[in-house]
Amino acid sequence: MTEERRIFLRNGWDWIRLAATAALCYPLFRFVKFKVPKKPRLVKVEKLMKVGDVYLDQEFFLFHDESATWAVSRICTHLGCRLNFSEKEHLLICPCHQSMFTTKGVMVAGPAKRNLPLFPVEKMSGENAKGYIVSL
Ligand code: FES
Repeated sequence: MTEERRIFLRNGWDWIRLAATAALCYPLFRFVKFKVPKKPRLVKVEKLMKVGDVYLDQEFFLFHDESATWAVSRICTHLGCRLNFSEKEHLLICPCHQSMFTTKGVMVAGPAKRNLPLFPVEKMSGENAKGYIVSL
């Protein structure tokens, strides 16, 4: 056997050992719930909001008042139905089982047991930038 062939085979075995170690460690990482953090998805809302405005997206509500702009999930924490905004009651209401949440995502009435997640909102900057960027 030539020296080059021997080196090639040794390197090949190193790669196979590395792959086998990774394959064996994968269930261990899953067991301890190791997750690679996923990148946030950025959604542009190209609209300047006035105080009291509400913007509806498929996945979130965007609210704006005198002090802040915030985004709250539109997906119910009970079984995942899409929430509606009731202007009269100023609440987010689930059409499936009537869970209710405040506009800040706090659960008011069940059967949902968890609050709605809030998403970070940034105001677009620049001369021609009008609107907000929501990180989902
Ligand atoms: S899915 Fe919303 S209350 Fe059940």
